[in-house]
Amino acid sequence: MILVTGATGTIGSAVLRQLLAAGHPVRALTRDPAKLAGSAADVVRGDFDDPDSLARAVDGVEAVFLLTVARPPSTRHDEALLKVVGDARIVKLSGIGAGEVFDGGTVGYWNLAAEQVVKQSGRTWTILRPSSFATNVLAAEGQPVINPTGDARQGVIDPADIAAVAVQALTEPGHHGQTYTLTGPELLSVPEQVSQLSEVLGRTVPTIDVEPAELARQLAEYGEDAASIEAMVRGVSFARAGRNAVLTGDVEKVLGRPAGSFADWARSQLAD
Ligand SMILES: NC(=O)c1ccc[n+]([C@@H]2O[C@H](COP(=O)([O-])OP(=O)(O)OC[C@H]3O[C@@H](n4cnc5c(N)ncnc54)[C@H](OP(=O)(O)O)[C@@H]3O)[C@@H](O)[C@H]2O)c1
Repeated sequence: MILVTGATGTIGSAVLRQLLAAGHPVRALTRDPAKLAGSAADVVRGDFDDPDSLARAVDGVEAVFLLTVARPPSTRHDEALLKVVGDARIVKLSGIGAGEVFDGGTVGYWNLAAEQVVKQSGRTWTILRPSSFATNVLAAEGQPVINPTGDARQGVIDPADIAAVAVQALTEPGHHGQTYTLTGPELLSVPEQVSQLSEVLGRTVPTIDVEPAELARQLAEYGEDAASIEAMVRGVSFARAGRNAVLTGDVEKVLGRPAGSFADWARSQLAD
C-alpha cells in the first residue's frame, strides 16, 4: 500500500491519479474525505496535527509520498509522520534552492531541515526538489495572474512530471539516496508563460506585477503569519534576482524522456 499525503493538492492529486492509473494500491490522506468522494483510492481522514489519525493512515503502508505545508514553516508534520510510520520508503517533496543563502537568510530552510529529518530517519528515501510549478500562473476566473518575480526566468515544470518522477521513486528500485532537482526544459519568466498561455487559450490573460514588499503586505492582510511571509518573500526575491535560472536533466534521467514544455502543459489545460 502506498500512502499519498497532500492528496487533494496540486502535486499529490497528480501522484494519486498516476498511481491509480498504473494499478497500484493507494491510500489518500486528507482532512476532508468528501474532497475525494468517488476516488478509487482508500481515502482516509488524517491531519498531520492529529497523531492518532496519522497512526491509522500508515497501517500496512510500504511507501509514502510525503508533502507538508506547515504554517509557520517547520518540520513538525514530517516528524509526526515519521514517528508513526514503519519501515516504509519515503519520497519527500522539497523545493529547488533549499539551503541557498540569500539576502541574509536561507531559502527553503524548512524544506532543507525536513530533508535532513527524512535522511536521518533510517528509511529508504528520495528527495524531490521541483522548480516553480506551471500551475502557479493559473488565476481564478476574472482575476489577474500575480507576478512576484518580474522578468526573472525559472525552469518552470509541469506538475504531472513531478508526479511521474514521484511514482517512479515510490514504485521502482534504484532511487534510494537520490536528490532530484526537477525542472522543465526551458527557462521562462512569468510574462513569457502568460504570453504562451494566452496564445493557447485564445484570450489575453492579465497579469499584475507585485513587488516582494507589496506581496508581504498583502499576505499580512490575509492573516498569514510573519514567519511564513518572510519565507515566501525570501523565495520569490531569490527567484526575482535571477538566482533560480536553473535547468537540469533529472526528469529525463528518471523518466527516460525529456520534461514536458510549458506550452504542452498549457494545451493540456484546454483538455481538462
Ligand atoms: N508552487 C511551487 O512553485 C512550488 C515549487 C517548489 C516546491 N513547492 C512545495 O510544494 C508544496 C505544496 O504542494 P502543492 O502545491 O501540491 O500543495 P497544495 O496544492 O497547496 O495542497 C496542500 C495539501 O496539503 C494538505 N494539507 C495541508 N495541511 C494539512 C494537515 N494539517 N494535515 C494533512 N494534510 C494537510 C492539503 O490536504 P487537505 O486540505 O485535503 O487536508 C492539500 O492536499 C510545498 O511544500 C511547497 O514548498 C512548491
